[in-house]
Amino acid sequence: MEKLPRPAGSEIPYVGGLYYLLLVGNIPTLEEALEVEKEWKSRSRVPVYVFDTLRAVPADTPALTMFSLAILSLQRESEFAHQYHAGLKKDSYWEPMLEDSLNLTAKLPEIAAFIYRLKYKSGALIPSDLDLDWGANFAHMMGVEDQGYRDLSRLYFLLHSDHESGNVSAHATHLVASSLSDIYYAASAAMNGLAGPLHGLAAQECLDWLLCVYQMYGSVPSKEALRQYAWDTLKSGQVIPGYGHAVLRKTDPRFTAQYEFGMQHFPDDEIFKLAALVYDTVPDVLREQGKARDPWPNVDAISGSLQYHYGIHEFDFHTVMFGVSRILGVSANTVWARALGQPIERPKSLTTAMLEAIAEKA
Ligand code: MLT
Repeated sequence: MEKLPRPAGSEIPYVGGLYYLLLVGNIPTLEEALEVEKEWKSRSRVPVYVFDTLRAVPADTPALTMFSLAILSLQRESEFAHQYHAGLKKDSYWEPMLEDSLNLTAKLPEIAAFIYRLKYKSGALIPSDLDLDWGANFAHMMGVEDQGYRDLSRLYFLLHSDHESGNVSAHATHLVASSLSDIYYAASAAMNGLAGPLHGLAAQECLDWLLCVYQMYGSVPSKEALRQYAWDTLKSGQVIPGYGHAVLRKTDPRFTAQYEFGMQHFPDDEIFKLAALVYDTVPDVLREQGKARDPWPNVDAISGSLQYHYGIHEFDFHTVMFGVSRILGVSANTVWARALGQPIERPKSLTTAMLEAIAEKA
């Protein structure tokens, strides 16, 4: 992150620079990062029918469902789909895929902020400000006055964009796009995978857990009290949300980046302090218990507490922000999948007899 170009006076890089890196594979110069930001500005207008679609759903529709729906509604704009049906040659598939990816990612901050303001702020919308960069414009449209939120938004979008290709949202994108579906279909599917508690929804559950602990003690508890609480949780057969990861075996670097941001900007925020105390306490408890393969925190253990500090108290929306970021990573991957001519994903299916034979050999 320290190598990516950043706005003057800001410590967190342009998201456009990250997208350049994901697409091209090189650290961009400032001019190259700004080129992506400029592309995004020129493609950012969201068609009115997307907003009409979102206004038409029942008010209690989950925010991520609305986000997935908005992306799917844009599918009619797909350059890839149009050009494919017009007879596009295989070695050019990546070009309209890139167009689609730039068009879709350009619109994500406004779509997400629209959902937030429609759902939680009585529909009082804040117009986009194209003098701002992609990340800062999202913060502006959310209506968060504190300028620190612009940096946090950039940081959040940088950190959640990609994480190997085996996670559900990345894999879902790859699977759907492998049939030569366009990025709108594939990214909408990714959001549906992100909705699960074992994936994107986990961040909400972590924040919920922190708030429950805080409410129970009426303040940040002592380390000893928290240690006892963690043991009680484990002994009752529950897990500590946000601790452990499918593949990581150390503190998730995305946790560390957010922890450092909180320490620098609001070390005395009560919920952040609690998240920090959990980090100081829970890994030892998990190691003593000896059951967890990974006793360390993942990205979700802290992200909600930072959003909470800036007043984003609607948990339901946190997964939308995860989705905005994740589409950066998966859309870039999909452009590459087309450029490399990757085949359809078609796992072999096994009969019960074949599975039994494997089990017998094991
Ligand atoms: C992610 O970033 O998607 C999560 O860490 C989940 C995962 O990697 O499986």
